[in-house]
Amino acid sequence: MTAVPQEIRAEPLPMAAESRRRDAWWAEPLAVVVVLTSFGLYALWAALQNGNYYAAPYLSPFYSPCISVNCVHVTLPLIGSWWTLSPALLILGIPLGFRVTCYYYRKAYYRAFFWSPPACAIPDARRGYSGETRFPFVLQNSHRYFFWLSLVVLAFLWWDALLAFRFPTGVGIGLGTVVLVVNATLLTLYSLSCHSCRYLCGGYLDSFKDAPIRYRLWRWTNRLNARHPHFAWISLFGVALADLYVRLVAMGVITDPRIVF
Ligand code: FES
Repeated sequence: MTAVPQEIRAEPLPMAAESRRRDAWWAEPLAVVVVLTSFGLYALWAALQNGNYYAAPYLSPFYSPCISVNCVHVTLPLIGSWWTLSPALLILGIPLGFRVTCYYYRKAYYRAFFWSPPACAIPDARRGYSGETRFPFVLQNSHRYFFWLSLVVLAFLWWDALLAFRFPTGVGIGLGTVVLVVNATLLTLYSLSCHSCRYLCGGYLDSFKDAPIRYRLWRWTNRLNARHPHFAWISLFGVALADLYVRLVAMGVITDPRIVF
């Protein structure tokens, strides 16, 4: 075999030029940056408002459960009057931690914010890769605990949705009732399609031979799990819009229309 002379060998391409993708691969990470940044800023702003989160009988999901006695609408009086900051700050860490450690969101924001890698067949922004073995990424392993905690919050959101049928004038349905029920439904689909939920339902078993119920649960969560990315995005918009709706009603900007009296 004849050796190729050094002078006619092709120069290795720099990292940034290695990809041959010519499509708009950057569109997806850009959309993720825009949506997650917008949601994060809105959630932070709403949580710091410490007002306009309750318009009877609707409670904003960002403030639920309201566990400070200083709440406009107390769900559970666990924290005394010494807490003078926004009650949302006592609770938002759970849904936030659940989303930040979510396996799907991790993929999305690792690609969008860290360019690690930004898309298929596009090189990483950094050469080194330590996975999730070092601080702070090793904390991503707490996802299963956030899953359990978020189920507790979810139970309260369903309680709020039920209370949204109870008006000062009696039982009825307003547009806000529909908004809170839809929000709780979307968050339930997001939670039950979680990878940790699928694992807990039976994913850890070696054999389903003696566990027929677990097998059914596991099959059901598998089907939900295939749509987890969709539920992740839809429920994100849903929870922000639910807060916005309650906020606008509480501020008197819009009037809540009654559908059933
Ligand atoms: S994997 Fe997304 S919420 Fe658990």
